[in-house]
Amino acid sequence: MDDPLSRNLLTDNPALYEARFPDPGRLAGRWAEDCLRRYAAPGPRVLDLGCGTGRDAAHLHASGRTVTGADLSEAMLEYARARRPGPVYVRADLRGFDLGDGAFDAVVCLDSALLYCHTNDQLDGFLAACRHALVPGGLLVAEMRNGAFFLGRTELLDAPAVDGFVWQGVTYRSTTRLYVDRTAQLLRRTRVWTTDDGSPPVEQRSAWRLLFPQELRGLLAAHGFEVLALHDGPGPRTEPVWREGDPPGETADADRLHLAARLAHRR
Ligand SMILES: C[S@@+](CC[C@H](N)C(=O)[O-])C[C@H]1O[C@@H](n2cnc3c(N)ncnc32)[C@H](O)[C@@H]1O
Repeated sequence: MDDPLSRNLLTDNPALYEARFPDPGRLAGRWAEDCLRRYAAPGPRVLDLGCGTGRDAAHLHASGRTVTGADLSEAMLEYARARRPGPVYVRADLRGFDLGDGAFDAVVCLDSALLYCHTNDQLDGFLAACRHALVPGGLLVAEMRNGAFFLGRTELLDAPAVDGFVWQGVTYRSTTRLYVDRTAQLLRRTRVWTTDDGSPPVEQRSAWRLLFPQELRGLLAAHGFEVLALHDGPGPRTEPVWREGDPPGETADADRLHLAARLAHRR
């Protein structure tokens, strides 16, 4: 039997995921393409890790890239194949994958997907797999929560966040609690969903690694990456939001981190 806590209402229902997180301006895809140009990806082959519904992969494809989208969720992959044609979609675990030696010129990993690497071994697995996947000089572009934001700030932790939206005539309400598990260095989330269609409430738990900027620099250097940019915005999920032509920031203090790194040594 399925463990309901191991499932995720949104990743199991890709259309609902898109309704909850609309991205009509394809901001994340445009930001990623801007990074690939700004930091001169050595070629057109891009791997989008944690590609979800394929919105960013399809945008990169439309920009002339040769894109492979990879995700762990079969539901997401099925949806992406049907609704976002162009890229090739494959099932892969970003914590350790082999999609070919030097098969890509860039890897992108957006919306905190990298932080599904909870342990140091998983982070090493991710970076070792990226190193294997990239050609020398290849780029790693990522966008995620910033662990350092939580040092001395509790505004996201103090009170549950209540949200709601209507999809296909059903009202979905979520109550979300975040807390910091300092021992595991994880941001843990409990989210309870209720609907007005008579379904019982669903409780889901997720967690993201709290990764600090200097810790990330150390890991990248150990895996042969040279950091080109590591900053808190502007980016696709910052306030104010990133616009074409905006230069990268110089601090890493706010709640999102944006990374561009080049594979300098393949070893
Ligand atoms: C927040 S969504 C991001 C989707 C997309 N990149 C975006 O920006 O809209 C995270 C995605 O990561 C996928 N995911 C979670 N753990 C993963 C893993 N270990 N390997 C590959 N994909 C994973 C989920 O299935 C989900 O589609």
